[in-house]
Amino acid sequence: MKRVMTLGQFIIEKQNDFPFAKGELSRLLRDIGIAAKIVNREVNKAGLVDILGDNGMTNVQGESQKKLDLYANEQFIAALSSGGECCIVASEESDEIVRIDSAVSKNAKYIVAIDPLDGSSNIDCNVAVGTIFSIYRRKSSEGPAQLADVLQKGVDQVAAGYVIYGSSTMMVYTTGKGVNGFTLDPSIGEFCLSHPDMKIPKDGTIYSINEGNYVHFPDGVKKYIKYCQVEDPSSSRPYTSRYIGSMVADIHRSIIKGGIFIYPTTSGAPNGKIRLVYECNPMAFIIEQAGGRASNGFERILDLEVNSLHQRSAVFIGSENMVLKAEEMMREFSLEESEKLKAS
Ligand code: AHG
Ligand code: MN
Ligand code: MN
Repeated sequence: MKRVMTLGQFIIEKQNDFPFAKGELSRLLRDIGIAAKIVNREVNKAGLVDILGDNGMTNVQGESQKKLDLYANEQFIAALSSGGECCIVASEESDEIVRIDSAVSKNAKYIVAIDPLDGSSNIDCNVAVGTIFSIYRRKSSEGPAQLADVLQKGVDQVAAGYVIYGSSTMMVYTTGKGVNGFTLDPSIGEFCLSHPDMKIPKDGTIYSINEGNYVHFPDGVKKYIKYCQVEDPSSSRPYTSRYIGSMVADIHRSIIKGGIFIYPTTSGAPNGKIRLVYECNPMAFIIEQAGGRASNGFERILDLEVNSLHQRSAVFIGSENMVLKAEEMMREFSLEESEKLKAS
């Protein structure tokens, strides 16, 4: 019989990849996995909210109900606080960094940036949502960790991952040595290795973008969309369009099937919408580790300067050749965008 490898077993086994590590990163990943299971339980019950009680009300168990993204935020912060390996959490749901001040945590080595619930507009309609996380080593060695410790380039990430709460729940992560995916087996309550060494196809035939914003897109993006729609059987065009509206789910599909996910700058959002620290950088790290490519249309996402916690960026991410093609069109038709980005 084939032996099942749980996330916990896998993390311990892979600890040997880092001979000088003391197991802190392993414990951090384990804590994130535990919080993900708790969030998964709540996400699965989301449709019952009218039966059990709505936001601000008390449910039948006497617990008060919270918006799921705030609930997820609390669960991840609680898990990261009790583990003692993380000194700062930077979250989409918190304006400022959250310092973990307990005696064990305040000198901890790691910083976690997190989007606790990605695609939250999809919760009400039973569509896949996710969690994205990114782990850095703190830079300062003395005193309380600072915001500057968080504002590191994506290339300095130690680990990154996402959880997708979809038709099944998966955790996918990298520590810079490839990407592995684990599917939650609800019958035993464990994430089990189901997608070892994930690789994204170099080419794809699916493009993913909120085309409703077409008129507001840079010309390079408009040209790329038209390129995707042209009839050319030799390159399998026209491509297929798929847009879930949860970046985690759209990028997960791209890794499995090949494809490109684009959230460009728009005339209304000149820096883009997606946040660099806890959305773009972790997904870019995972995609590169899976053999794909991630850029803002002109530059590699992981090399971008990080100046503020909730900074936004345009993102072109997915199969290498598709992203290269989109970048070519940005260079050809949207160079003024590049100047604006540099100036901002
Ligand atoms: P979040 O729910 O964390 O705020 O993120 C939503 C993001 C991303 O997941 C998704 O791809 C994008 O916003 C959808 O935006 P549009 O509705 O503008 O297409
Ligand atoms: Mn998000
Ligand atoms: Mn979110």
